[in-house]
Amino acid sequence: MTAPALQKSSPVAGQVVLDATDVTMRFGGLVAVNKVNFSVNEGEIVGLIGPNGAGKTTFFNCLTGLYKPTSGTVRYLGKTLKPQPVAVTRAGVARTFQNIRLFGNMSALENVMVGRYCRTSAGVLTSILHGPRYRREEKETVEKSKELLSFVGLTDVGDHLARNLNYGDQRRLEIARALATEPGLLLLDEPTAGMNPQETGEATDLIFAIRERGVSVVVIEHDMRFIFRLCDRVTCLVRGETLVEGTPAQVQSDERVIEAYIGSGPTHANKPATEKSLDEEAGA
Ligand SMILES: Nc1ncnc2c1ncn2[C@@H]1O[C@H](COP(=O)(O)OP(=O)(O)OP(=O)(O)O)[C@@H](O)[C@H]1O
Ligand SMILES: [Mg+2]
Repeated sequence: MTAPALQKSSPVAGQVVLDATDVTMRFGGLVAVNKVNFSVNEGEIVGLIGPNGAGKTTFFNCLTGLYKPTSGTVRYLGKTLKPQPVAVTRAGVARTFQNIRLFGNMSALENVMVGRYCRTSAGVLTSILHGPRYRREEKETVEKSKELLSFVGLTDVGDHLARNLNYGDQRRLEIARALATEPGLLLLDEPTAGMNPQETGEATDLIFAIRERGVSVVVIEHDMRFIFRLCDRVTCLVRGETLVEGTPAQVQSDERVIEAYIGSGPTHANKPATEKSLDEEAGA
């Protein structure tokens, strides 16, 4: 018999994968996300930008069940998602975190294997105990996890403890673990934060390759050169609301977007997009 964890739908060409309607998230008197409408079509890479505190991560948390939105609905492949992280992952939506969340004392390979357990009938404990019923499934989990490590460029570090990997490799490992859940949609929260320009270029190629595997992607980033090169569409959030959405060319040339970044304060991430990207290109 198939366990419920194995059941999921897969996106088909042209389908709306994610459909968030009027999503609002309040923290006491603060409205961090205000009536945001957001959709992703099958095969799309969509960027989510906006100055610090705009509500980008909070919106991801609403999409992935980490927060229960104050109001609004989130649908994946036409079905309303229960606001619980495990239910969302099992439905087919995976994510990475702005602040990396790996199991530091487990190997890179084991971190990816953890991701796969939401698609196997064996629980984590049973698999660790290597009960005879589950050996075949466990072998398959190891093979698929190794394949994912290789896909993200971490072939040689499978037995390294996650905490000993450099920053860029930890971000790749988080992506491999997210892919291990076999998502149809992947949400990446600042996947190139802390990366040098070469690593950022590799991350761009990796995300294109993920799309080639039939996974749609939403990516939050402050590096505008990265976003505009990568994305089919871009949405800019400011103070919890959608300020502008459109193609990279439309968003890039929109005065309101530039003003939102200039007016939002002096932190590095709030610099106007072009200034930050040029700094980075110069190795600053
Ligand atoms: N759990 C929480 N409780 C209270 N306020 C919160 C909580 N999470 C986020 N906020 C507030 O919601 C607002 C949006 O924060 P959020 O982290 O979503 O912004 P962001 O766009 O991801 O910013 P950054 O680019 O710096 O990551 C901020 O004012 C933040 O302080
Ligand atoms: Mg954030």
